[in-house]
Order: sequence, then structure tokens, then C-alpha cells
Amino acid sequence: MVQSLAFDEYREKERTKHVHRLHPYKGKFIPQLVEYFLDEHTDELKRDTWFRAGDVILDPFCGSGTTLVQAGELGIHAIGVDISEFNTLLANIKVSRPDLNELYITARRLVRQLKEFNAGAAYLEFDVAVGEALSQFNKEKLSLNGHNEGPENSARLVRDFMEEWNYLRAEYSVNLRQEQDDTFLSFWYVEPIRKEIDFLHGEIKSIPDTSIRNVLSLALSRTLRSCRATTHADLATLKSPVFEPYYCRKHRRICKPLLTATKWWERYALDSVSRIAAYRRLRTPTHQICITDDARSSCLETAVRNTDSGLAQIMEKQGVQGIFSSPPYVGLIDYHEQHAYAYELFGLARRDEWEIGAKFNGQGRQAREDYVEAIVQVLRNCKRYLAPDYDVFLVANDKWDLYPSIAQGSGMRIIKRYERPVLYRTEKNRNTPYGETIFHLKEVS
Ligand SMILES: C[S@@+](CC[C@H](N)C(=O)[O-])C[C@H]1O[C@@H](n2cnc3c(N)ncnc32)[C@H](O)[C@@H]1O
Repeated sequence: MVQSLAFDEYREKERTKHVHRLHPYKGKFIPQLVEYFLDEHTDELKRDTWFRAGDVILDPFCGSGTTLVQAGELGIHAIGVDISEFNTLLANIKVSRPDLNELYITARRLVRQLKEFNAGAAYLEFDVAVGEALSQFNKEKLSLNGHNEGPENSARLVRDFMEEWNYLRAEYSVNLRQEQDDTFLSFWYVEPIRKEIDFLHGEIKSIPDTSIRNVLSLALSRTLRSCRATTHADLATLKSPVFEPYYCRKHRRICKPLLTATKWWERYALDSVSRIAAYRRLRTPTHQICITDDARSSCLETAVRNTDSGLAQIMEKQGVQGIFSSPPYVGLIDYHEQHAYAYELFGLARRDEWEIGAKFNGQGRQAREDYVEAIVQVLRNCKRYLAPDYDVFLVANDKWDLYPSIAQGSGMRIIKRYERPVLYRTEKNRNTPYGETIFHLKEVS
């Protein structure tokens, strides 16, 4: 029996199980929510089941692929569409089936190669020396002054440590700023990490097997995200690059910028292998794919035929049973910019101007009207593939009450609203109350 749809009985580990934590993505829903609506159980709140094993479902705003992954666990075929190429890549990697042994061997080789690449590098010796000096400094100063965190005190602490930092930097002749700073990768990374990234990228590009190359590219992208030259407290909202020690609000001590990606790379490369392996043990022999396109106009028949002929046949025979999706909302999240480093490193095409509800268009009246029209176009486009008795589930925080107009414009009716308190949101203020609605829509009869 489910009391509410908060799913707060699930621990962090379960909410980010297997491939769901392959890469950060701001704005994804939790797998338990998808499971709840897709699986065949009923309870006090959910009186009906709408999908069963063998069905085909659609997520026109596929994002990081949560719907596809959970469909794969439940024996349901799924098609995703997303305008952002990185998101499509992420979703497709989650549901890919690389040779696990080969993947493991390649990941280990690349971990070793990065260590060899770094052997004897002055910046690693500098890193160790600074680390030791800093831990001594923090131990002495923070206990001495009773840990008064006022701005003056923290600025003085930084000034005090700078003397040691500058001395060591001169001794090891280490340069942290890159010569140019006109791209994301030259602006947001210290020079030693940039060199490591370029080295790994070169090695990964030469891996002949596409699915193995893709998984490790994603692990590199995750590494990039953790290694931006920012303070620990500003990881989610980049402010300005940091090339010197700073007073860390998160750890309440002096911290230094990261100088090597080695630890993160090792952790993420191997973690990716075990997450893909964990999902492999649970998934069913069904089809899931994600297509990069504008969901307002995408031609699914052609796209699916070109990508997965087996799925195209199933889709042609039985149609698409329904939709489970969370549309972008008006002016909230910049879905391209959050992965700017990956677009640049992998040379992916950006389609920012085709994002529905794009953040740069704001939340004004015009933006809201455009949003309603765009979601209506998506639903109308999807209806071309839906079976006559379809079920559509859309998850949204509809604070402007736009979904009744969206339903009407799409020739659908809202048959039920499920309210859900959101208690855990990554990288946001966890104390702000927030809720979302799961709209259940059907064809107007
Ligand atoms: C709220 S997110 C979906 C998150 C997803 N449910 C998950 O768990 O990862 C909305 C997605 O819609 C995509 N999007 C925005 N405009 C689009 C369009 N015109 N066509 C297809 N997808 C679009 C964004 O790129 C973003 O990934």
C-alpha cells in the first residue's frame, strides 16, 4: 500500500540505482515514480494498471532516459525523443549492451594509462606538498581561533596560507591557468587537468567498439564535471574559476583547487562498469532507444526503422500504448548548458533554440503561451503513433495551471491528477517545499 507518492522510504542508493547514476543530470525523475505507474500492481491510490510486459511506450522528453531504463526492467519496449544530443547519448548508453568483460579490461587499461601519463609530473608532487601543508595549517589555525567564520577571519586565513602556496608553486614551477580562456574547457579547468582530459579523450576516441567507447566517454564527461575549477560549495552553480586556495563554506576550512583528475577518473570509469553490469542483471530482452529530434515534428516511424528494425516491427504491429514523460517547464532549466563541457569536448551539435520552455526565454506571458502551444504540438505529433485507447502520464509542477489548456488543445482530457510531494531534489535547496502533479490524460471520447 502506498501512502503518498513521495517515495521517501527509498534510500539514496535505491533512488540512484544502477545506471541511473551513470552521469549527473539536473531535472530527472526518480525511477520508483516511473515504476509505480508502469508496473502491473494496484493499491489504494492506483486502482488500475495501464501497461503490461510487451507494450511499447513513448517518452517524448526522454532526458537522461529514466523511463527507458525502467521500461527495460519491466519488460516494456520504449522509445525516447530528446532535443539535446548529450541527453540522447546518455539515455542510449544506459540501455546499451556492451561486452562487460571487454569494457572492464578497457576501463582498467585507461586508469593505468592515465597514471603512466602523469608519472613524475611536477604538479602531482606539488599537489602532495600543498596537501600536507594545508592539512597542517587547517589543524593549527582552525583549532587556535575557535573556528570563527566571519568574512574578515576567513580572508585572513586565506592570506596566511597564500604565502606557503606561492612558495611551493615557485619551488615546483607549476602553472595552473591555461594560456587561453575563451572556451568552457580553457576557462573552467586548471592546466594539468586539461592535459589529462585531452590525453584520455585521445585514447578513448581510438577504442574501436562504439558501445565501449561511449560508456567510457560518458565516464570522462562525469570526470570533467567533478573537476571544474570551482569551490566545493559552488559545484552546482558555477560562479568564477578558482586557481588558488579559498575558504570553503562547505568544509569550513581552507581548501585548494583540484590538480589532477586521476582519482575521479579511476572511480567513475570502474563505477560505470559495475553500474552497467548491475542493470544487465535486471533487464529484460526488450528494445529501448532514444532519438535526437524535436518532439513537435519527429517522425518516429522512420527514425525507429533506421535505428532498430525489430522495434519498428513491434511498433507497427501493436502501436504505442502510451506516454510516460516529464516535459521541460517554463524557463526553469537550461538543458544544454548544464552539460556545456561535454558538448565542447565531444563536438556535439547544440540545439538550444529548439528547447521547449528554454530558460533564456524567461517565464513571462509570451513564454507561457509559447510553451502551451509547443506541448500541444508534441502531444498531437505523438498521437499519430498511439493506440486508440492510449494512456498518457505527464509529470509537471504546473504552478500556472497550463495543463488544462494543453489537454484541450491536444484533444485529450485530464482524467486524474496524482499529487506528489518532492522531498529529495539533487543540487537544490532541499528545505523548500515543492510538489508535482502526475496528469493522467486520455483521448476525448
Ligand atoms: C524534465 S526533462 C526530462 C527528464 C527525464 N524525465 C529524466 O528522468 O531524465 C525535459 C527534457 O525535454 C527535452 N526537450 C526540450 N525541448 C524539447 C523538444 N523540442 N523536443 C524534445 N525534447 C525536448 C530537454 O532536453 C530535457 O531533456
